[in-house]
Amino acid sequence: MKPSDPILLFDSGVGGLSVLGELRKTLPDAPVIYAADLAALPYGEKSEAEIAARVPALLGRMVERFLPRLVTIACNTASTIALAAVRGALDVPVVGTVPAIKPAAALTKTGTIGLLGTAATIRQTYVDNLEREFAGGKKLLRHAAPELVAAAEAKLRGEPLPTGAIESAVAGLRDQDGGENIDTVVLACTHFPLVVSELSDQFGNDVHFVDGSEGIARRIAHLTQGHDFKREMPDFMVTTSDHDSLNSLAAALETYGLSEVRSF
Ligand code: DGL
Repeated sequence: MKPSDPILLFDSGVGGLSVLGELRKTLPDAPVIYAADLAALPYGEKSEAEIAARVPALLGRMVERFLPRLVTIACNTASTIALAAVRGALDVPVVGTVPAIKPAAALTKTGTIGLLGTAATIRQTYVDNLEREFAGGKKLLRHAAPELVAAAEAKLRGEPLPTGAIESAVAGLRDQDGGENIDTVVLACTHFPLVVSELSDQFGNDVHFVDGSEGIARRIAHLTQGHDFKREMPDFMVTTSDHDSLNSLAAALETYGLSEVRSF
């Protein structure tokens, strides 16, 4: 392994940047290639079969091209559906994203937790199993909020957020039976921490938010303990969509240390 071998961080869109932000704090010298499957965004509206067919194949081709030392699926939807298949298909370590139900259960005082994710994520048995294992005796209210994916994509492009996106996501939890008692919200989609300040304004100060990004950064650091890192060229983003349409993302990408966008 060479010190310049990158970590490949993968998401359907800009959501994985919330994970990249944490990774930068933990491993500032690690070379990163940020891969976004923008041609297939949003994953959350796709079927299990589509995700299960697309993600392992795409990541297989990306690993062949970029030879990363480690792959991180910085996407709850892809991880809850396809993590095992990706691990089976690749011969590099793969870190997945798990909805942060365990830390939320430790944090809640009222015993009522909200979970915001994509439609595909919130229906997974993976989430049922996390609820059973870590949130026994608590109430977990789930809501699919695809509008927050669009809101995060817009925000990073410097565009106005879709009207009512934040309000309808919050109402989707609050209006459920017992929703008024929610004091902790799991952001079970990597796009959502990118709009956490807007969510917080709407939920009010008494609600805390948890997501998986810190845990993922710690896991990557653990798996790369003892590795040498040296960036020999600026980090960049690759995307499956036509990169000419991505000029509006350039300023945001710069703040995450990504110098350019390349097509894949
Ligand atoms: N960022 C992805 C996640 O964590 C989902 C966004 C999408 O619907 O593509 O679930």
